[in-house]
Amino acid sequence: MRSFAGRDILSLKEFERNEFFHVFEVADEMEPIARSRRNTDLLAEKTMVTAFYQPSTRTRLAHEAAMHRLGGHVTGFADAKMTRAGDFYQESIKDTVKMLEFYGDVIVMRHFQQGAPHEAAKWASIPIINGGDGWGEHPTQILTDLYTVLTEKGTIDGLKWLAVGDMRMRTMHSLGYAMSQFDCPITFVSPPDMSLTDEFRTELNQFNVNFNEVEHVEEAIADADVILVEPVVQPDYTKARDERTGELDLTPANYKITRELLATKAKPDAILLHSLPRMDEVPTDVDITRWSRYWQEAFNGVVMRMALLALVLGKME
Ligand code: CP
Repeated sequence: MRSFAGRDILSLKEFERNEFFHVFEVADEMEPIARSRRNTDLLAEKTMVTAFYQPSTRTRLAHEAAMHRLGGHVTGFADAKMTRAGDFYQESIKDTVKMLEFYGDVIVMRHFQQGAPHEAAKWASIPIINGGDGWGEHPTQILTDLYTVLTEKGTIDGLKWLAVGDMRMRTMHSLGYAMSQFDCPITFVSPPDMSLTDEFRTELNQFNVNFNEVEHVEEAIADADVILVEPVVQPDYTKARDERTGELDLTPANYKITRELLATKAKPDAILLHSLPRMDEVPTDVDITRWSRYWQEAFNGVVMRMALLALVLGKME
């Protein structure tokens, strides 16, 4: 297996099956630290730089929390408008990371431009972790979700997945690539204007992903062991910031996971994932049902980032 030390985490397209399981093993080692709310000194000599060109609650703060749990240091920006990349100069990715690489040992980047973290990785001498790039990918989120499935169900192989939402979304791309390494049939449900792109569909076929597409969650929910939901009412991920204007659309029933739907159609032991933030696609009365696992997913978001940071910074092999 390739070493993770010094490696960029840009995409799950390049992840091998044994690498997924190795990351999960390291996450298992990190879990008790996060569970007991302890801070250790594993990364005491290391600093993480966050470069967030798009809003985030979970991804940035989970990475920061992970770094604190491991005794490391954190610096960076959460709003590029306060940097030279977001003012008159519109400083390039290259010029920015050629500075940031001297301020720390790993950079976590979220950007509205697909491929921006890849561009950063071309120039930086330290690892780049992709915290979400435009409609591109969100690898650390899907690693979190797969780890949640493994810890909740005891396996990943053999489970049937239902993925509901906007298929242009970066999490869906990372999920599709990850599915190529597991024995998991997956059904996608999305509005027609948010369906799998032809390019992504071709890739899934090339990667031998066992997938199909249906129009309504009701057609597929009864078979699903894992239900992963993303909003269909959401901002434009190619923008640095997309404010709400006017009346918001509601999520059509085809793409909504209600308590009644779960109670009448879902397997009793299916699990429901949502990386959040949400709109109305998973109403809040679902939170206390036996299907919901999104708070466990949130906890695992810290555990997974601890594992990835320890690996790429060479403190875990
Ligand atoms: N799931 C996720 O990426 O959330 P944030 O946008 O808050 O980071």
